[in-house]
Amino acid sequence: MANIKEIKEPINDHLLAFEKKFEKAMKTRVALLDYITRYIIRRKGKQMRPMFVFFSAGITGQITESTYRAASMIELLHTATLIHDDVVDDSNIRRGYFTINALWKNKIAVLVGDFLLSKGLLLALDHNEFELLKIVSVATREMSEGELLQIEKAHKLDIEEGVYFEIIRKKTASLIASCCAAGAHSAGADKETIKKMYQIGEHIGMAFQIKDDLFDYQKNKEVGKPNGIDIKEQKMTLPLIYLLNNSSFLEKKKVINIVKRHNLNAEKVDRVIEQVNKSQGIEYATRKMYEYRDKAFELLLDFPESPMRKGFEQLVIYTTERNK
Ligand code: IPE
Ligand code: IPE
Ligand code: MG
Ligand code: MG
Repeated sequence: MANIKEIKEPINDHLLAFEKKFEKAMKTRVALLDYITRYIIRRKGKQMRPMFVFFSAGITGQITESTYRAASMIELLHTATLIHDDVVDDSNIRRGYFTINALWKNKIAVLVGDFLLSKGLLLALDHNEFELLKIVSVATREMSEGELLQIEKAHKLDIEEGVYFEIIRKKTASLIASCCAAGAHSAGADKETIKKMYQIGEHIGMAFQIKDDLFDYQKNKEVGKPNGIDIKEQKMTLPLIYLLNNSSFLEKKKVINIVKRHNLNAEKVDRVIEQVNKSQGIEYATRKMYEYRDKAFELLLDFPESPMRKGFEQLVIYTTERNK
């Protein structure tokens, strides 16, 4: 696998220019807010979504000013969702540092998330980017629906695989799909191409979230966020769903009981994590992840070979092979 620096190579200058614009888009005169946004900027993430935007523009046409706006807008929305997600998941660590809710409490985290969301929407409006606004607003709606659906199903301890896939399609794949669609749109691609890029992004997004859910069952310091919190939050992800669907009646009852009533008992949760690791749950989820990745690769073949396509493909490989 190419490392992230090598993958960035063909779009490096664009990413550097993007970072400046992204920072500028967060500017505010409210002192506390300014302090917090600077904290966020210093602890940036992997920026995979802007990378998908640039590569998508690159394989369907030319990178334009509009591509930059799409990248900034999407990274703003992504950041806003993560801040809200950490409130929802009661999580204290992200990107290896304390979360906003951990440092400034939930009230402030909710408002900072709203601020970034509004900044993202305004960025599109200020430049009359209505198509971009449409693509990204749909993803924003789907992300909220996905997060709520997840909470609803967590309460029922639903273990239908189809439900899991629906949740991750909405909460994660829709935004990565919108990266690819918005990138293509910014490069002047036609409707059909934009649609195809959306599909490619959706497949990648599914693989991306399965990978993220696998992290929760692994001990890996590099990932920069706590593991084992999905069971604590009663989140039924693919490795656990597999274990439950492939256990004897009694075993299943025991595991369900822990998830239902002892989800805050670290020792018992650890035991379930161990059980998942011993079952074929990890292998099964990994297989599903690669199935989605391969679907994306197949559709990518419709675009001519180029350094941009090569970069895009490497980023897709990174999605499933990364360790953070
Ligand atoms: C985390 O996304 C949120 C999920 C959809 C699982 P990333 O792993 O891309 O987060 P950062 O931006 O790199 O921290
Ligand atoms: C991240 O979801 C937020 C969205 C996809 C909207 P998770 O709660 O599953 O991911 P992490 O592990 O906190 O990043
Ligand atoms: Mg969550
Ligand atoms: Mg979370």
